[in-house]
Amino acid sequence: MVAASPGPAAPASGASGATGAVPVVELRDVWKTYGEGETAVHALRGVSLSVDRGDYVAVMGASGSGKSTLMHVVGCLDVPTAGDYRLEGHDVAGLNEGQLALLRNRRIGFVFQSFNLLPRLTAVGNVELPLVYAGAPRPDRRRMAMETLAGLGVADRAHHLPSALSGGQEQRVAIARALVFAPALLLADEPTGNLDSQATAEMLRIFDRLNGGGVTFIVVTHEDHVAAHAKRVVRIADGRVVDDDRVAAVEDPPPALLAEEAAS
Ligand SMILES: Nc1ncnc2c1ncn2[C@@H]1O[C@H](COP(=O)(O)OP(=O)(O)OP(=O)(O)O)[C@@H](O)[C@H]1O
Ligand SMILES: [Mg+2]
Repeated sequence: MVAASPGPAAPASGASGATGAVPVVELRDVWKTYGEGETAVHALRGVSLSVDRGDYVAVMGASGSGKSTLMHVVGCLDVPTAGDYRLEGHDVAGLNEGQLALLRNRRIGFVFQSFNLLPRLTAVGNVELPLVYAGAPRPDRRRMAMETLAGLGVADRAHHLPSALSGGQEQRVAIARALVFAPALLLADEPTGNLDSQATAEMLRIFDRLNGGGVTFIVVTHEDHVAAHAKRVVRIADGRVVDDDRVAAVEDPPPALLAEEAAS
């Protein structure tokens, strides 16, 4: 039995993006402090950021600037110490643990640098995990997981353990797991950090294609050539947004896809 979702998104007051629709992500003066007193670390110091549906945002900044902390807050893995966060119009602070878990599971996909696949489960077993947590019936789980793997070109690796996959294949399986619920928002924290240049190029093509298909995407990266795939580049320094550069319109295809279309 699949539990009910937290209900329809209530429009956030004054939260109208470029299209007039509710932004997928809306942070207002968000602070995140780890620890207390003299040892307190202010990882985020008043971040305000709004991301509309269909945007492709690269987050860049020096090591320790707060990028992963920001992704954890946006992904509801962590709550802000102060400030407001609305995800698709839901005030995250107003949700209980169960509702938060549902939002996380259904609406957000995560891809981490170290793919985080469970080593004892096959590729398809890993992709099924979010569906297992959601209580989906076994035949549905298997079908949805296989379809997602096929969409990423790794259906033939479905019954292998992660240890028998290449880095690029592991990453595709991790992306399949993030996508199996067709999330509204895909978050990736240095997803190409462990990949060679060819696997990185393939990964970037997959991200372009997903964003072209309407998935809102936020990616943390240190690499300019990865950020060049985004429609917008946000720079973080010392827990603050110091630069926010729009490179392509939200409603346009991502720049690399556009260039490809123009060339063909
Ligand atoms: N759980 C934690 N407890 C205490 N301090 C933390 C914790 N997580 C992060 N920090 C601190 O918060 C600051 C921001 O860390 P964060 O991981 O967000 O940086 P980052 O920009 O992702 O860096 P990197 O590029 O190295 O991944 C750092 O000073 C870090 O040491
Ligand atoms: Mg980090």
